[in-house]
Amino acid sequence: MTYKIIQWTTGHVGREAVKGILRHPELELVGCYAWSESKVGKDVGELCGIGATGIKATGDIDQLLAMEADCVCYMPTFPDIDDVERILLAGKNVVSSYFINARSWGPEVQTRLQQAAEKGGVSLFGSGIFPGFANFIAALMASASYDFRKIHFQESVNVAYYDAIANYAKLGWGQMPDDDKWRETNEQVLGTYAECIDVIAELLHIPITEIRFHYESATATEDREFNRFALPAGTIAGQKCQWLGMVGDEVVVELEVVWNAGKNLQPDWPVRHGYSMVVEGDPGIHSHIKFIPSAAQLQGGRPADLANVVTAMPVINAIPVVCAAKPGIRSYADLPLIRPYYTAWRHRL
Ligand SMILES: NC(=O)c1ccc[n+]([C@@H]2O[C@H](COP(=O)([O-])OP(=O)(O)OC[C@H]3O[C@@H](n4cnc5c(N)ncnc54)[C@H](OP(=O)(O)O)[C@@H]3O)[C@@H](O)[C@H]2O)c1
Repeated sequence: MTYKIIQWTTGHVGREAVKGILRHPELELVGCYAWSESKVGKDVGELCGIGATGIKATGDIDQLLAMEADCVCYMPTFPDIDDVERILLAGKNVVSSYFINARSWGPEVQTRLQQAAEKGGVSLFGSGIFPGFANFIAALMASASYDFRKIHFQESVNVAYYDAIANYAKLGWGQMPDDDKWRETNEQVLGTYAECIDVIAELLHIPITEIRFHYESATATEDREFNRFALPAGTIAGQKCQWLGMVGDEVVVELEVVWNAGKNLQPDWPVRHGYSMVVEGDPGIHSHIKFIPSAAQLQGGRPADLANVVTAMPVINAIPVVCAAKPGIRSYADLPLIRPYYTAWRHRL
């Protein structure tokens, strides 16, 4: 079966998604939305730094929705709920690096998206590395313990060379610390992280009674600049956030992110470079997942691209099962096993 795909924007993650679509034997790229006017009319291959694809980007949403396509790969900086609703009502599945279950947008938006998907006879699914795939792995680890009591998951990375570091401005980076103010902003902007607790709870039959949120900032000790994003001395250049899934007064799911823009912040949290996962139980289970840049990424001087690849690929590989799923908002808790393709043999022949 071949699924026809429209790519929605070609930013950092979207560019890697396009490469993933073109390599996937069950997917065919048929269209592309450009938010930037300067991208309209350009070949998608040119926008993604690869050879021509014959598909040109357009800013005309009506034209894209009228196309015959199975799925939209939706990857703008921030979602437009009206657009997502229109795509679903037009009978196109949506996979995204943003959504998990849309609960953090409030019941009105969540219901609108659920109803649009049902009316369109399609599904909405979101993943990425975290929120998304890495925390799903942590939940799966609990399968090997007969008495798990707690899942602890931590993302710990130095984001200094991450292309999209300027997007952290909306979390307070580069501005003066004010933990009450930025705690509230972070809890709202990073709402999809809390939604991961819903998915883990559903997967592992955990009767969560409350989700708690903690926030702490770290400041630059001298002026810094990464990818033209200025972080003057004394401003926020790192943060630690925790989402705690409680059962009564016990923490049963603990999701933590520690992001540092370089070393020697105040406080100077250690950087573990990846995902540390611990299942406390009988037996206890520990794992650490680290991503290694490909030779091509290293040779091209673009090792940071791997963050965008591991965000895009869990979304792309899910497309066949999402297109076949029961209509509605879907998650790892109710999709069948997602099975990527071995395609490396093609390069060897
Ligand atoms: N789950 C995860 O693990 C994970 C990890 C990283 C990122 N993400 C999410 O993935 C999404 C894409 O991230 P990214 O780093 O690729 O973002 P990005 O490069 O900053 O932006 C993606 C595209 O959004 C469009 N855009 C920019 N400003 C816009 C605006 N004001 N209104 C509407 N569209 C706008 C642009 O489209 P054009 O291409 O037309 O210029 C841009 O290329 C974000 O929602 C991000 O939060 C998820």
